[in-house]
Amino acid sequence: MAFPQHRMRRLRNQEWARRMVRETHLAVDDLIEPLFVAEGTGRRRAIGSMPGCSQLSPDTLVEECRISRDLGIGAVILFGIPREKDEIGSQGYAEDGIVPRAIRALKTALPDIYVIADVCLCEYTDHGHCGVIEDGKLLNDPTLDLLGQAAVAYAVAGADMVAPSAMADGQVGAIREALDEEGFADTPILSYAAKYASAFYGPFRDAAESAPRFGDRKTYQMDPANAREALREVELDIEEGADMVMVKPALAYLDILTRVAELSPVPVAAYNVSGEYSLVKAAAEKGWVDGERIAMEILTSIKRAGADVILTYHAREVARILAR
Ligand code: PBG
Repeated sequence: MAFPQHRMRRLRNQEWARRMVRETHLAVDDLIEPLFVAEGTGRRRAIGSMPGCSQLSPDTLVEECRISRDLGIGAVILFGIPREKDEIGSQGYAEDGIVPRAIRALKTALPDIYVIADVCLCEYTDHGHCGVIEDGKLLNDPTLDLLGQAAVAYAVAGADMVAPSAMADGQVGAIREALDEEGFADTPILSYAAKYASAFYGPFRDAAESAPRFGDRKTYQMDPANAREALREVELDIEEGADMVMVKPALAYLDILTRVAELSPVPVAAYNVSGEYSLVKAAAEKGWVDGERIAMEILTSIKRAGADVILTYHAREVARILAR
């Protein structure tokens, strides 16, 4: 007999009781803030589809990171928007490209901020795909060499971690080898292991000016219908030397996150992507939902599902809420 002996509400009826039995605690340490850096100075160009986010120049990036650091956010991930794009994404691995310059500026001004550099070519190629294209197809193996060069350029500039997101087979191994050869054996790799071909990246592609000019990313990113395949992606990346693995997007993929977290011997990150953020912001602007409560609920759910860390555009907002 369950009721009336058992009453689940006994532990819910006071704030202290609820706090005492709370299973998941979101903390500022769980958050990684994604930031967009472009050429120029004094730049803060608002991204229309991502309220609260801007394209920054290296100097304003430093100013913004100072605010984040004061809020307790310890880590950022950088995405670069170059002035010039070309067929092979040269600015993505140029030693004086926008991301290496941003890293140097950040590390000089705020040496204690943990800087992660996203490693991909879609922001740097004129066709908007994540690697080398021939006859309309993305060539896997020639792309690996360029991703390795990009990772090394970012490590040389002072990146604390690199995060390959191109979904090229073998990218983690290639980057590990390239880093080790150049003396960066201690630079960890956060692999976007289970990255889906998702419509939730729409606002990011606006922000990073990286939408593919033809076709889509379905030949290299995962089919949203697949779960078992994600486990294999994770397994392969760990074999190749990934220090952490990521599931992306997060919200529509919490089942994947849980399964990966159950099996993964390495820490698991989740990317609460641009579209997930924009949906909340748009509805909150209309007054249809309470944006702050929704953000907290979403991030708590992502952590409850198994994420050790969360990449999120809500980072600052949530850091402020947590500080209250
Ligand atoms: C680069 C990359 C993308 C995102 C992170 N790294 C875009 C894509 O794959 O098209 C998306 C992040 C977001 O939507 O917030 N490959």
